[in-house]
Amino acid sequence: MKFETSVIELIKERRSRRSYKPTNFDTALTEKINTLLQSITTGPFGNRILFSLIEKSLARENHKVKLGTYGFISGANYFIAGQVEPGEHANEDYGYLLETIMLHLTALHLGSCWLGGTFSRSDFAGILDGGINMIIPAVTPVGFATDNTPWRERLIRRGAKADSRKEWSALFFNDTFTKPITQDDAGDYAVPLEMVRLAPSASNKQPWRICKTPEAFHFYLKRTPGYGKFGKDVDLQKVDMGIAMSHFELACLELRLKGKWVQSNMGISSTEVDEYCVSWNNLMDL
Ligand SMILES: Cc1cc2nc3c(=O)[nH]c(=O)nc-3n(C[C@H](O)[C@H](O)[C@H](O)COP(=O)(O)O)c2cc1C
Repeated sequence: MKFETSVIELIKERRSRRSYKPTNFDTALTEKINTLLQSITTGPFGNRILFSLIEKSLARENHKVKLGTYGFISGANYFIAGQVEPGEHANEDYGYLLETIMLHLTALHLGSCWLGGTFSRSDFAGILDGGINMIIPAVTPVGFATDNTPWRERLIRRGAKADSRKEWSALFFNDTFTKPITQDDAGDYAVPLEMVRLAPSASNKQPWRICKTPEAFHFYLKRTPGYGKFGKDVDLQKVDMGIAMSHFELACLELRLKGKWVQSNMGISSTEVDEYCVSWNNLMDL
């Protein structure tokens, strides 16, 4: 589904919202959200994921579950969640697709908040019921956010330093991971890179590192030791990577910068980063 407003502006506008007005969606809005969920289903690595709009009161009535968020979310009557089969890049595709959905929700003036840790996986699994092997890397509440930010939410934001982001010099590099790239060196790609910098990430750890070579932007993970794994298959820092990919690609599309996701790490090796994920080849057409 196409964005009708600037996605670059939506990326700047989005922030995690944890407090909601108890307003129910009317039929038109429910249909709009369901159409959105049905149109954003296949990630850049080919995983197909169906996301569902879940109404809390129906979940309680029909499935006897509370959709617990350990007190992190208040007032939300709706959530969006999906399940994916574990496998290579399943977490990245989940991050890419749900972030794209969340930017569309921002365009509809709806609040959302990535939840990868503070939600009951078993409550949501009971509703989605895609099979015992499927994983739910994260979910989001969705609704009309309250007009002001209650102190409880302000404390959570302060705890995660949610309003700050790492400097360019810590995230983006030129040719090797020892040489930071300047906005001038990045040229037309300064905006897509800045959109990655503004992306949400689990506990705001910002694990993405990107190195530019003459033909591509190579995306690597710099892991936070011991962080973000739930069981053997859920990996929140890979979800973060998928979110970064969506911001980069959507910004390139808006700016009419051509490119394509490829696997080619060009043998960049460095002790500065931990894992290669994907490259955006900016000489190829999408
Ligand atoms: C994959 C992922 C998982 C997250 N999990 C949680 C969570 O469990 N609980 C929570 O309150 N916030 C969670 N967050 C929200 C982050 O804390 C938030 O995105 C970050 O602090 C930046 O703030 P912003 O989204 O307002 O820009 C998560 C974010 C991401 C991307």
